[in-house]
Amino acid sequence: MRDVMFTNETYHKKILNLNMFYLRIQKEHAYFLQTLIPPKQADLIKSITHFHEEYQYLIQETMNIGAGILEVSDYMVTNYTLSMEKLTAFLTGHPIDTDLTILELNLATQPVIKEWDKNLKEAVTQLNQKITSLNREFIKLHNDVLEMVSACGILLNTYPSFLLHMKEELIHYNELLPNIISYFENDNLKFKSIEFWNNMMLDHAIFTHSFLDPKNEIELLSRAATFINSFEQLSNRNNLTIKLTEDFRDFIVQITEGIFNCEISSMMNPLYCDHILREVNFYLYLLKYSL
Ligand SMILES: [Fe+2]
Ligand SMILES: [Fe+2]
Repeated sequence: MRDVMFTNETYHKKILNLNMFYLRIQKEHAYFLQTLIPPKQADLIKSITHFHEEYQYLIQETMNIGAGILEVSDYMVTNYTLSMEKLTAFLTGHPIDTDLTILELNLATQPVIKEWDKNLKEAVTQLNQKITSLNREFIKLHNDVLEMVSACGILLNTYPSFLLHMKEELIHYNELLPNIISYFENDNLKFKSIEFWNNMMLDHAIFTHSFLDPKNEIELLSRAATFINSFEQLSNRNNLTIKLTEDFRDFIVQITEGIFNCEISSMMNPLYCDHILREVNFYLYLLKYSL
């Protein structure tokens, strides 16, 4: 019965932590989309850039509300995030606000000093409402782009299923938000989330495999294929899943370092490697917390 022992303060800290994870994920989805749409679609790119900026503002707002409460962990930002952002912005020409990441990394070293304040509940509620409304608009944009793709009206420089994957993560976040207060005391919600992320891990293994150079990365391709097979076969919520996911995390770390050091031949956006790494870390957090 450890869950019912949580104080409101603990709840709100966890809610802010969850938002920090999911907001950065959405900010990066917007960023990836910007880089995957041809220059011909200038208006669409402008709309997507707007979402990228709006999610940045919401991350900033979450940090303001959570100053002294937030505890940064490896599912929010990793040791690689800043380097991968700089490299990706350099390679794509699409800017990234790395100051935001530096602020977030510095949060990790700040002592938890803020006293519990009842006004925080209201601030968190209002923040969640803003996020929900932005997420709804962003879901609509995903639908619009998917429609264009299915009508062959746009050349998306990735697989349609990759866009669908991003949309599924967005919908999952938005469905979670109204129930986020009870997230950590509701077994159904936790298990639903674990099941969802388990399916996403399979996708990550599939996409990692599909973005590697099929002629030059035979060994990595073979390892990625093994992970696809394992995630397909394993049910979630057991200790084998934790071991498999830890192995997958180590594999993604290897890919992340390899991409950064220009040692791997692939179509992978450097920041995408770190993005998957954080999603894997988040899944591990959910698994370890819930078992
Ligand atoms: Fe994602
Ligand atoms: Fe993902």
